[in-house]
Amino acid sequence: MPFKTIIEPFRIKSVEPVRMTTADERAHFLRQAHFNPFLLPSDKVLIDLLTDSGTSAMSSRQWAAMMLGDESYAGAKSWERFFEEVNDLTGMPHILPTHQGRAAERILYGHLGGKGKYFFSNTHFDTTRANIEFSGSTAIDLPCPEAKDYESDLPFKGNMDTASLKRQIESVGPDNVAAVILTVTNNSGGGQPVSLANTRAVADICKQYHIPFVLDCCRIAENAWFIRHREPEYTHLTYREIAREMFGLADAAVMSIKKDGLVNMGGFLALRNHKLSEACTNLLIITEGFATYGGLSGRDMEAIAVGLEEVFEADYLHYRIRSTAYLGENIRALGVPVIFPIGGHAVYVDAERLYPHIPRHEFPGQALVCALYEVGGVRSVEVGSVMFGKYDVKGRFVPAAQELVRLAIPRRVYTQSHMDYVIEVFEEVLRRREQARGFRIAYEPPFLRHFTAHFEPL
Ligand code: F0G
Repeated sequence: MPFKTIIEPFRIKSVEPVRMTTADERAHFLRQAHFNPFLLPSDKVLIDLLTDSGTSAMSSRQWAAMMLGDESYAGAKSWERFFEEVNDLTGMPHILPTHQGRAAERILYGHLGGKGKYFFSNTHFDTTRANIEFSGSTAIDLPCPEAKDYESDLPFKGNMDTASLKRQIESVGPDNVAAVILTVTNNSGGGQPVSLANTRAVADICKQYHIPFVLDCCRIAENAWFIRHREPEYTHLTYREIAREMFGLADAAVMSIKKDGLVNMGGFLALRNHKLSEACTNLLIITEGFATYGGLSGRDMEAIAVGLEEVFEADYLHYRIRSTAYLGENIRALGVPVIFPIGGHAVYVDAERLYPHIPRHEFPGQALVCALYEVGGVRSVEVGSVMFGKYDVKGRFVPAAQELVRLAIPRRVYTQSHMDYVIEVFEEVLRRREQARGFRIAYEPPFLRHFTAHFEPL
């Protein structure tokens, strides 16, 4: 590319206003939300970087496809369209449509899991871990050692530690391992990509021990961009071919289509094994819906079929990955500690290093999400000890592996000027660095506490 401006590869045909607020209003809204941005009404947020999930802008082709939705209970045309698309992409013969990713997780991990079983992953996402633990199983994260290195330019920090995987399987016994899950890209591990070489190594180990190998593939198109640009053996393949190569190594795939499906709702479970698909289809029908729609309407399935094609377009993926890096590299240049290199869907700030004066049990990440909202109306999410911290048997605080804040970028929604504004907000947050204070938890539920917890400033 001869030009340095990252052109959004689309024109805007329909717009949605965002509302400005004053600093006093934001301080008031934050107090009303108990200092938890999940509890803020969205019209009080200017730039919403809470998640890239279900927040995409659909294309005119997708909106047009929705009008073709066949809403028949059984055997709808839209199901055929959805099936053909997902089957072509994954190469798996059994496709179960679900309303979102965690429904597919509940069905698969609920069935494979249970008391005494183990799941291993490069890093379990929070709903993945919750579904596994809810079934009575244990979820163990095995990220590669480079994942902890936030500074070096290593290409695939999302990889799994395969030596450790082998050791763990031997130590708990292969019969007790319910599945190995590779999350691409590694969301809770900084949005870092996973290489095809690592995927192949994990697949080989699973084959050796007869353990099901599951891809959590909600950002597989973004992951394919990194493979094509960082793993020399695959530069000759298209992004879609790379994704298919990856699916080809797995026994099953769980997808939250709300990410790389470029839609606002949807998920699927794809399986190779017929017997497993029968058991899971029963659970699908009991808890989601009949096998040819599951948790989706016909029009959803039409929009998904188009989205899963559009997401692999080279211009789109280039814009997507470069614009995330634009935000990350610019705030890094200001001196904000970020996970480097920048991942695909989000920029992850190391709040522990940004606020070294706030101890981990006072949640430096929560301090940063509150500061970003107060300063500029920017909503982000803590991925640290609020989300993953625990208490031991004596009720003592056990911190998460890291104290991060995620700025997730919705797909095709914000422009470069929105990102320039966020960069300016960070300049102000840096100026107020010393004044930032920690928080204590005033209320928390037993599972997934970050969604609904209340906080009080210290
Ligand atoms: N797996 C991964 C890697 C995810 O990032 C998510 C959702 C899920 C599974 C669950 O899918 O939300 O459709 O039920 N991640 C969102 C996020 C919520 O903000 O990262 P879901």
